[in-house]
Amino acid sequence: MKPVKVGICGLGTVGGGTFNVLKRNAEEIARRAGRGIEVAQIAARRPNPKCETGATPITADIFDVVNNPEIDIVIELIGGYTQARELVLKAIENGKHVVTANKALIAVHGNEIFAKAREKGVMVAFEAAVAGGIPVIKAIREGLSANRINWLAGIINGTGNFILTEMREKGRAFEDVLKEAQALGYAEADPTFDVEGIDAAHKLTILASIAFGIPLQFDKAYTEGISKLTSADVNYAEALGYRIKHLGVARRTDSGFELRVHPTLIPADRLIANVNGVMNAVMVNGDAAGSTLYYGAGAGMEATASAVVADVVDVVRALTTDPENHVPHLAFQPDSLSDHPILPIEACESAYYLRIQAKDHPGVLAQVATILSERGINIESIMQKEVEEQDGLVPMILVTHRVVEARVNDAIAALEALEDVVGSVVRIRVEQLN
Ligand code: HSE
Repeated sequence: MKPVKVGICGLGTVGGGTFNVLKRNAEEIARRAGRGIEVAQIAARRPNPKCETGATPITADIFDVVNNPEIDIVIELIGGYTQARELVLKAIENGKHVVTANKALIAVHGNEIFAKAREKGVMVAFEAAVAGGIPVIKAIREGLSANRINWLAGIINGTGNFILTEMREKGRAFEDVLKEAQALGYAEADPTFDVEGIDAAHKLTILASIAFGIPLQFDKAYTEGISKLTSADVNYAEALGYRIKHLGVARRTDSGFELRVHPTLIPADRLIANVNGVMNAVMVNGDAAGSTLYYGAGAGMEATASAVVADVVDVVRALTTDPENHVPHLAFQPDSLSDHPILPIEACESAYYLRIQAKDHPGVLAQVATILSERGINIESIMQKEVEEQDGLVPMILVTHRVVEARVNDAIAALEALEDVVGSVVRIRVEQLN
């Protein structure tokens, strides 16, 4: 049988890795796919010194690939929203299957892209868009398809996890670690996507859709980054038996779905709390399987290429299948997606870590306790540190039981209005993940 011809758009870190893996493991991949896979064309603005592209035709124009009648599968690895959307829609229009690693594209334009793909009977595969080399999309969409998923929580941005790990373990400064993540090729072109949680929110949006069978709704995800975290909170969390991780959480509730990305205290003895450096991990809780955990490299040249190539193999295996028998893009049949709403953050429920800087006067603790109890907020633990030399203030750290966020907002406003409380109250959400 003739080989399937693929075109790679973008020969950066992931594109280069994809080319190399397809070439190095060509024989093994063909045995799995049932046919050889040939890179028939590459679109790249410049050569990748880590790739020996040999006689493979290279063009500078990505649209040459999608308009090339020889190409069966377009691998989109250029990143970004606008041009990638145009490229993918054109590829679909031309009847080509698409494999992409582009989380921003899928989270923001996925509904439109999948509708177009259905119309044309082609596949759009995106395993590499979430958690790099971890086959978590396949696990949720196919491996857990018997389950009603209750919740999932993940460390899905390697750069952010690397920064938090280095801050905690080595006391390094935020900026310094970010520079290293950029040099290692993990950070996004715009690193605010990593540190402000946008990249994680893209990935969480995708995970939530395939877990719950809802349309992609990136604009409704609550997003909070790690740039305001201080080493004081990292250390206090540690003293209370927690680790701070930048977590994406999606949870089913009776009134809607929670979809939120934020720094989170997790008990230090949970496996996921011990996922360090650039590694990613996603925990999924289903009613039948219980909790399962998926761990591995969330970024990097060949780790991400592993997911891209696996998608290519899946597409090749399904080339002769009727389009209506393809695995649905969002795991659920497109006409059966749920319109259960995404909850605003004020309606989400969590436990909270609160740090209050107070003047060292009698009765402050009693006032704090009253404000919380009046709003039905139950305190789980409290820690009061000695007066700090530089400002004469007392740090008071509380962990609450689970409560709806609106009540905590109200309590924080009342706490900040107290005469003996100085500055803003620090709030970090807490998840037990049990
Ligand atoms: N910037 C992303 C990260 C790359 O650090 O996880 C993988 O999506």
